Amino acid sequence: MVVPGSQHKLYHPPEGLQKDAHVPDFNCYLELYKKSIEEPDVFWKEVASDFYWKKPPTGQILQYNFDVTKGNIYVKCMEGATTNMCYNVLDRNVKDKNLGERVAFYWEGNSPDHREAITYGQLLGQVCRCSNTLKQMGVRKGDRVAIYLPMIPELVYTMLACTRIGAVHSIVFAGFSAESLCERIMDSQCSILVTADGVYRGEKLINLKQIADEALEKCREKASATVTRCLVVKHHALRTQDGDVSNKLQTPWDAACDVCWEEVMGQVSEQCEPEWLDAEDPLFILYTSGSTGKPKGVLHTVAGYLLYTSLTFKYVFDHQPDDVYWCTADIGWITGHSYITYGPLANGATSVLFEGIPVHPHVGRFWEVIEKYRVTKFYTAPTAIRLLMKYGLDPVQKYDLSSLRILGTVGEPINPEAWHWYHEVIGQKRCPVVDTFWQTETGGHVLTPLPAATPLKPGSATFPFFGVEPTILNEHGEELEGEAEGYLVFRRPWPGIMRTVYGNQERFESTYFKKFPGFYVTGDGCRRDKDGYYWIAGRIDDMINVSGHLLSTAEVEASLTDHGAVAEAAVVSRPHTVKGECLYCFVTLKDCREFNRTLVDELKRQVREKIGPIATPDFIQNAPGLPKTRSGKIMRRVLRQIARNEKDLGDLSTMADPKVVEVLFNHRCETAS
Ligand code: WT7
Repeated sequence: MVVPGSQHKLYHPPEGLQKDAHVPDFNCYLELYKKSIEEPDVFWKEVASDFYWKKPPTGQILQYNFDVTKGNIYVKCMEGATTNMCYNVLDRNVKDKNLGERVAFYWEGNSPDHREAITYGQLLGQVCRCSNTLKQMGVRKGDRVAIYLPMIPELVYTMLACTRIGAVHSIVFAGFSAESLCERIMDSQCSILVTADGVYRGEKLINLKQIADEALEKCREKASATVTRCLVVKHHALRTQDGDVSNKLQTPWDAACDVCWEEVMGQVSEQCEPEWLDAEDPLFILYTSGSTGKPKGVLHTVAGYLLYTSLTFKYVFDHQPDDVYWCTADIGWITGHSYITYGPLANGATSVLFEGIPVHPHVGRFWEVIEKYRVTKFYTAPTAIRLLMKYGLDPVQKYDLSSLRILGTVGEPINPEAWHWYHEVIGQKRCPVVDTFWQTETGGHVLTPLPAATPLKPGSATFPFFGVEPTILNEHGEELEGEAEGYLVFRRPWPGIMRTVYGNQERFESTYFKKFPGFYVTGDGCRRDKDGYYWIAGRIDDMINVSGHLLSTAEVEASLTDHGAVAEAAVVSRPHTVKGECLYCFVTLKDCREFNRTLVDELKRQVREKIGPIATPDFIQNAPGLPKTRSGKIMRRVLRQIARNEKDLGDLSTMADPKVVEVLFNHRCETAS
């Protein structure tokens, strides 16, 4: 399907889309961009005027220091202002804009028979009830609340309730293991955990409460138990007219700690005054993998995140009042925080909230949901596109996709073949594909096309969003002009950038600002072509992007070496047709341990249990010795080449014992372990 040379062909925005668009052409983009860079105060004040401020800001809209040689790194947005996130995304829509009857979410369960429509008015009521419940359980402003929930409306109620009362949510993706949940709870000393009894993911019933209990037990073992109460939702879809399957879970219950959501929510009021917070008060913590192996608690704050997610949502998806928008991410990731909850609600949008997976009960599920709700804007990940491409045209052509107007992608570079399939088969050549580059740390899109303005090149995230100033540096920190390749960095903050690593300012500064003083360092390699388009080349640190999620090689290595048989482990990436990249692990066993099938299975299970199913290695190979430099550093470049069966290894002169290479080639895994 890829036309040779198509990388160079430009795809222009369809005229129909340009007519009513917020940014109708490229010149308009350039003008607004110029204003956002030259007069950031004027630009962001205008954006802020859409929202409610209990007290207006007193100083400059953005203040910052990005230069470690000049003192601490900081970013402040709207200093002096007070506001409330929940008020802005709900009360403002219901009361000031009269949108109480508008549907905020069409919830679609794991099974197509389970659905529910929730209006803005109803959402506000539920959020207030949940706010009162949390208060009753002792949660106060500034307290951290851990949320370990599947994609059910209660997840949205809880996160917004936290923001209403000034508590800081820390959502942990419900696919993470007990160990990972425990680590995150301890790092941010959460006082409450909110979870559900169980959930179906496809055919598989998952006992969430049991995992949550295991996590709390681990916290207690580590003698720093901070969670005092656990609020437990009984998943409605497990209890339907057709029957109650919840008894399969045998939900463990400890009356001293556990609180039943359904019971308490009925007893509290539907009214709750919002807590007025400072613009720079913390809004939430979200953990992302770090190259040392320990996840980093990325902290976002109230005002800047509100301005940035709402503006990017409005422009990047060219939001219109009659839209039905669907982002397929899980709220447990930043994509869900910014572009399922905050951005869309701030714009009064109607969204699909999808609990299911793309292949259950059949491989046309995504397309069925698009037809069912007449979805106009659809946002998903390259890994999902590649997965669904494999099933050919039949599952797509059964459904009417004529409602679609804009397609989006996020998470990793999209390969041209997937781009063209998405554009031609799903978008029927009618819908621009917005390839949005961003990170947990950036809070929102930073490089992205605008659908009615930017001519597209498949695979390029094109140009910076408003207020964002990218540049490319070489190894020496010199800025490169024109066509260039190097480190992608940003010269100044935008409102939605992270403020610190929770409880660890030092790590924040050393991770993102130390290498090149004066710049925020993304960790991605990048190329700029002759037309100024940016092309993300992928990570240049020890992170691996599996299905759009970053994993740290150090973290996987640590869970492998935790096994009694393993002396040393090294993990590298290997290309994978659906996941993009996958994990290829080299393990050196302790003396007298044998490498066999049982051990491989044990190691895989171990990683899955320590981190979560997304970290399950595809390949585990025996490595009697690892290639190391004379100073003892593992040569990952060589391991990557062995994993990919690249025979020409280049310069090996720094290697202590070149003989290990041949042995490793002999033990190579051809197919998945
Ligand atoms: C890393 C951030 C932001 C939500 C999902 C991932 C890669 C993300 C793109 C894109 C090329 C991309 C980068 C980035 N990435 N979007 N459109 N094109 N690469 O969030 O887990 O914080 O990962 O994902 O490598 O640094 P995350």
